[in-house]
Amino acid sequence: MAAILALLVLGGCTPVDDLMVAIFGRSMRVQPSFNPYENPQLAPEGSVSFSSGNFPAAPHSVNLGSPDGQAPPPPITPLMLLQGDPRAVGLENPVGPDAASLARGQEMYLRACAPCHGDVGGGGGPVTAFGVPNWSLLEDSALNLSDGYIYSIIRVGRGAMPAYGHQITHYDRWHIVNYVRQLQGELPSQEEPEVQAQSSDN
Ligand code: HEC
Repeated sequence: MAAILALLVLGGCTPVDDLMVAIFGRSMRVQPSFNPYENPQLAPEGSVSFSSGNFPAAPHSVNLGSPDGQAPPPPITPLMLLQGDPRAVGLENPVGPDAASLARGQEMYLRACAPCHGDVGGGGGPVTAFGVPNWSLLEDSALNLSDGYIYSIIRVGRGAMPAYGHQITHYDRWHIVNYVRQLQGELPSQEEPEVQAQSSDN
């Protein structure tokens, strides 16, 4: 009896599904439903895009989604980050810190990072009052991180910091990196922002 129970629990529904497939040619397990965050259609013209959309940005706006039509960003694991693997920390920032990128970065930073790291990056965000470790992004340890490191920590998290890769898309991570750099005072003055074609025209 215990063995049958264990088989049912551990095996899940797979054997039953396999039987269904053998008899009827299909089962409930294989179905044409969409995955979470999968967006099969382009956003309608003029609509307000959301951060998880995987669609090309509208003309003249910053790219918010994933790199459509290009090689996908390489997989990154938390271990790669901890070990300083160049495939994670050595990633080149493809987005110039122009005004549009910084504005988007600020919006996403305030949404996703400020609850812990505070509105200007010095720590002391509201949830640190409830036991989340208080961690400033303005200390030397954070100033010395590469852009690729910050991109990767957003994706996979580290220690007490959760991963946000499933909620913040590829380009939005780079916009946040740019904004963090601005908070850290590491960007040239805003009067002469460094503009690169990719961030504003794609
Ligand atoms: C739930 C709270 C929380 C949120 C939200 C959060 N972080 Fe963190 N972050 C932490 C903690 C805690 C650490 C220290 C991690 C550790 O234990 O090593 C940290 C570490 C970091 C570091 C490394 C700093 C250093 O000195 O090594 C960076 C960079 C960073 N966070 C950026 C971000 C960015 C960008 C966001 C927004 C996408 C973000 N964090 C969102 C809690 C948070």
